[in-house]
Amino acid sequence: MTLASLPTVEALRAFVRDCRAAGDKVALVPTMGALHAGHLQLVSVARRHAQRVIVSIFVNPTQFGPNEDFTRYPRDTERDLARLIEAGADAVFLPSVEAMYPAGFSTTVTVAGVSEGLCGAFRPGHFAGVATVVAKLLLQALPDVALFGEKDYQQLKVIERMARDLDIPVAIVGVPTVREADGLALSSRNAYLTPAERQEAPRLVAVLRNIAERLTAGEGAGPLLAAGTAELAAAGFAPVQYLEFRNAETLAPLERADRPGRLLVAAYLGRTRLIDNIPVEPIRS
Ligand code: PAJ
Repeated sequence: MTLASLPTVEALRAFVRDCRAAGDKVALVPTMGALHAGHLQLVSVARRHAQRVIVSIFVNPTQFGPNEDFTRYPRDTERDLARLIEAGADAVFLPSVEAMYPAGFSTTVTVAGVSEGLCGAFRPGHFAGVATVVAKLLLQALPDVALFGEKDYQQLKVIERMARDLDIPVAIVGVPTVREADGLALSSRNAYLTPAERQEAPRLVAVLRNIAERLTAGEGAGPLLAAGTAELAAAGFAPVQYLEFRNAETLAPLERADRPGRLLVAAYLGRTRLIDNIPVEPIRS
């Protein structure tokens, strides 16, 4: 198995052109590297949708705030390439910052509605950075399908909306979150956790699972979210930025599970910001 290395947009487009000429469908999996089993699951699901899978690795500066972890974000391209070969990806697109944002770059894609609230409230400009770079990647590659993880659920909704609004002719596919045996969602940022924090981290999803069960049993969201926030704070998560129950499609606030919902949380454990979310089944009647 060979992994084609595509350093430029021209090389990317030539690769996609060759795939199409051979009658193959093309999938794109955008990432920022530091690849783990969650990313590799996207590659494996991509295989079901297309004969050829391209992974992009680009640590996108415009989606990091001034006090966020852009400079210390884990980067290990050699290891990433080895994992992609193992996972059976066909090509890796590795653009430079200068190629993505040349001098004079002036365009930003903003998605109203779904970008607001949740992470959008705590990371100003983050989703504009994500929407802009993903719009570029989709237009550069023009794949048949692009895959994104539900781990970043609000991001998935922002990208779905953006692709629809801009008539980008790419099918957007969401992939369920890959977790450690103890429930912790895989994330490149888990590498920042101390051993003690790593032990405490699965409480995040445990709290979500408990609340989800009680919402589906018919309880109202308000008291459950307040108790869940208190439990996380008592366990050392500080601050708990949000713990919310939302409509799974529109992300509008929900009080009762009278339709498909989503529980979403963001909280710091020490210096590390963790996010997670799970689906909530509607009340069984
Ligand atoms: P990154 O954090 O590298 O994630 C790349 C993709 O992997 C995203 O779609 C993310 O949701 C998915 N992913 C991460 N952890 C996952 C897990 N545990 N299970 C399933 N999927 C998981 O998200 C980004 O990069 C960037 O914002 C990007 C979309 C590449 C734009 O720069």
